[in-house]
Amino acid sequence: MLFSGEFHPFRLPVPGLWLDVFQKIKSMGFNGVSFYTDWNLLEGNPGHIFTEGIWSLERFFEAASEAGIYLIARPGPYINAEVTAGGIPGWVLRINATIRCDDPEYLNATTKYMSTVANVIERAQITHGGPVVLVQPENEYATWPDVSEADFPTTMNREYMYHVEKQLLDAGITVPLIVNDNKALGYWAPGSGLGAMDIYGIDAYPLRYDCGNPTFWPTYRFPYNWQVLHEEQSPKTPFAIAEFQGGSGGGWYNCNLPLCFDRDLLRNREGVVEEKCAELVNEEAVRVVYKNNYGFGVKIFNIYMTYGGTNWGNLGYQGGYTSYDYGAAITENREIFREKYSEQKLEANFLKASPAYLTATPEPGINGSYGVPEPIAVTPLRGNSTQTNFYLIRHANFSSLSSTEYTLELPTSIGNITIPQLGGNLVLNRRDSKFHVTDYDLGGVNLIYTTAEILTRARGTGSARVLILHGGSGETHEFALHRRLGNPTVAEGSDVTITLKDEAYVVQWHVKPQRRVIRVSNVEIYLLWRNEAYAYWPMELEAAAPIGNYTSPSKDVAVIKGGYLIRSVQITHNEIRLVGDVNTTTEIEVVSTPTKNLNKIVFNGESLQTSRSKLGKLTATVAYKYPALKIPDLVNLEWKFINSLPEIDPSYDDSAWTSCTKQSTNNPRQLNTPTNMYSMDYGFHTGSLLYRGHFVANGLETSLSLNVSGGTGFGHSVWLNRTFLGSWTGAGSNTTTVQEFAFANLTLDQPYVLTVLIDDMGQDEEAPGTDAIKFPHGIFNYELSHHLKSDISWKMTGNLGGEQYADLVRGPRNEGAMYAERQGYHYPEPPDASWKSFNPIKDGLSEAGVGFFTTSFSLDIPLGWDVPMSFVFNQSSAGTTGLNYRCQLFVNGYQFGKYSKWFIYRFIGHRLICCSQ
Ligand code: GAL
Repeated sequence: MLFSGEFHPFRLPVPGLWLDVFQKIKSMGFNGVSFYTDWNLLEGNPGHIFTEGIWSLERFFEAASEAGIYLIARPGPYINAEVTAGGIPGWVLRINATIRCDDPEYLNATTKYMSTVANVIERAQITHGGPVVLVQPENEYATWPDVSEADFPTTMNREYMYHVEKQLLDAGITVPLIVNDNKALGYWAPGSGLGAMDIYGIDAYPLRYDCGNPTFWPTYRFPYNWQVLHEEQSPKTPFAIAEFQGGSGGGWYNCNLPLCFDRDLLRNREGVVEEKCAELVNEEAVRVVYKNNYGFGVKIFNIYMTYGGTNWGNLGYQGGYTSYDYGAAITENREIFREKYSEQKLEANFLKASPAYLTATPEPGINGSYGVPEPIAVTPLRGNSTQTNFYLIRHANFSSLSSTEYTLELPTSIGNITIPQLGGNLVLNRRDSKFHVTDYDLGGVNLIYTTAEILTRARGTGSARVLILHGGSGETHEFALHRRLGNPTVAEGSDVTITLKDEAYVVQWHVKPQRRVIRVSNVEIYLLWRNEAYAYWPMELEAAAPIGNYTSPSKDVAVIKGGYLIRSVQITHNEIRLVGDVNTTTEIEVVSTPTKNLNKIVFNGESLQTSRSKLGKLTATVAYKYPALKIPDLVNLEWKFINSLPEIDPSYDDSAWTSCTKQSTNNPRQLNTPTNMYSMDYGFHTGSLLYRGHFVANGLETSLSLNVSGGTGFGHSVWLNRTFLGSWTGAGSNTTTVQEFAFANLTLDQPYVLTVLIDDMGQDEEAPGTDAIKFPHGIFNYELSHHLKSDISWKMTGNLGGEQYADLVRGPRNEGAMYAERQGYHYPEPPDASWKSFNPIKDGLSEAGVGFFTTSFSLDIPLGWDVPMSFVFNQSSAGTTGLNYRCQLFVNGYQFGKYSKWFIYRFIGHRLICCSQ
């Protein structure tokens, strides 16, 4: 099974931290990661592709190899992914061709990127010893306007898909190509006669995106028939879910239900919406909905997102905000405290330890089958070639909050039995789902059944076996082993009933926080409370080349009881070397290894004092000594200030700016102005945009009407010379707005300058063929009373250099049009000696404008500590209470994010995350 998590390197632009995320994913029991590459970020400047520094795929591949993670590469060219224009570079949006079709002009535009990236991926294929095992061309390419499902794809779509596949094949990609069909209609499946795909995959987001109502599960998209569909659509390939909902995300007011984004709730959580998305797709969702997928026999399973990261530097699309935390298992600042991390760890490890799952035949779930009551559905997965059967239990109504008791009538190697055999009931509490197994192979020892779920089973020294079982608080569980193995004894704990019943010894217990350990012959069985099981880490041991750290069914596993995180385990002679993280003083117990005579534990390079537990296990304590940290008090630092809107001065010299003199556009949206004022047609695609309109007054002017465009949530402000005319603070649904500004008494024959500053929020994503991502930003129309439109001559600027952007390190989207950005003052050590001291939090701006504030501090985090840090903006940080503002935060030149105070009243505060370099 390929059990994979989605993680985008470009959303964590610190190559040195990639290993950390890979290890956290691997330690969860996953063996893969799926990643997109964002064409837009790599080829912002047509013909110039950057794959160095933070864009280095090689470093990403090295980190994956080191952690032992297989990769699914998804280079697009269109990726969606909540990135601006779904990954299509701005310069491609202005060409005369429909995006994602077989028009040669569009195809040509993709050539250099696809061949460059595909070549890098090619070198990293598993066939060359690298981590890449699958490659996905395009993304969700399953519709086209005016083409019905029955007629899709047309020749044109087919040609396009062939082209993308061929780009990969021509670069030497030989690992299987996988399709991601969001329509689950079987498009591009091998055998469908369409293209060269090897594996058919679907994607699904059944819990949807309403993070404002995290306890409400919208079950209308929950799947019931995927195993049947799979048999129809692609019976010869493993059932693959190329993306399955691992969290959720919101946007700038993108929700219409009255309860969405409950303001007070959000404020109580420091205004951070991500925790609510994590709550929507929480550990219960993982239990119920992911297990439902195992019930369909999924073999390639990718959780989108597993680590989300940050939409830093304007890389996001108009509908998202800075954080791409996604409520995922690993938080934006790389913490793993969310319970679903641990729940996923239980599930992924169980599947890894259960090869019988891979060959079992999934059957449809039936309510009330196998003797359970009607409100419960049982989905069997029947052993083919193995004796093992899996029975998946869930509430028939997925979202039920009831507690439902049940017993199960199951066929086993000792005949048909009703479990629990020793009385009492099994129970499904709230939103839960359970795997019960029968005749499960513990490695030469047959487990007749267990109702408690399996975290893992492992080979110990010699013929020793360990089995780790867990159950929810208060539940009753049972397992049975054949009597010929002997009489089970309780080696640790108490309150366990052991009864010989016919052919088997049956062990029953009620789950409590204290663990119980049972021994039978050479098998040791741990009976754990589920939350206690979270502290157990089944860790693969390194194998000989070429497997190394990669997952392989034949690998040995060490089971370590640790704390917050165990990253890796190595055993040499009598020494076990652990690498891990603790967040409190932590007991380490070596529960099982295949190595004899261990007597030494080394944790993060330090030898620990060890002792033996009553069970004879090697144990030690990792002391947690909280380091002295100097976290800067941002409010009271010395801040320097400079005006960042000198452009409203009529004498400002804009001679180097771009003149808006083009008379036409390739854009589907035609012009309403005498000359083209779409920023994309002048090569400006990111951040803010500045327009200056020059005219000579005739004294009759009374008003200016402006139609401005900037992506949902955009805002703009307008000045006439130095006079502020007004602004649009933004709205979730507006991509444009028309406003009228009144004024009078302009002086006849005097030159005037209009300044329009637009906070551009990025392009949209799109369904294929709609060209929605080409929606232009800039000024759509204007009307100055008593003037012809042509009386105003416009100039504009965006980021320094536009497509020929200057900052090759941080890439094409990091900056916008603001003066301070164009001067590079956001880099370390700005020339601020003569700037005045002024505090953005205490003083703020006294009038409409743009201020640039800078300060410096050092963090001095002691070596060896990973200290998760966030910048938190809240309403009390608003020095100018009552005024709306937008701000961007730069750290060492990297735009960490955008914050808009206007939005906090509507729905969201913002957490900006610090990644240290
Ligand atoms: C999928 C898409 C991803 C991402 C996701 C939502 O449909 O393939 O790229 O956009 O939706 O987060």
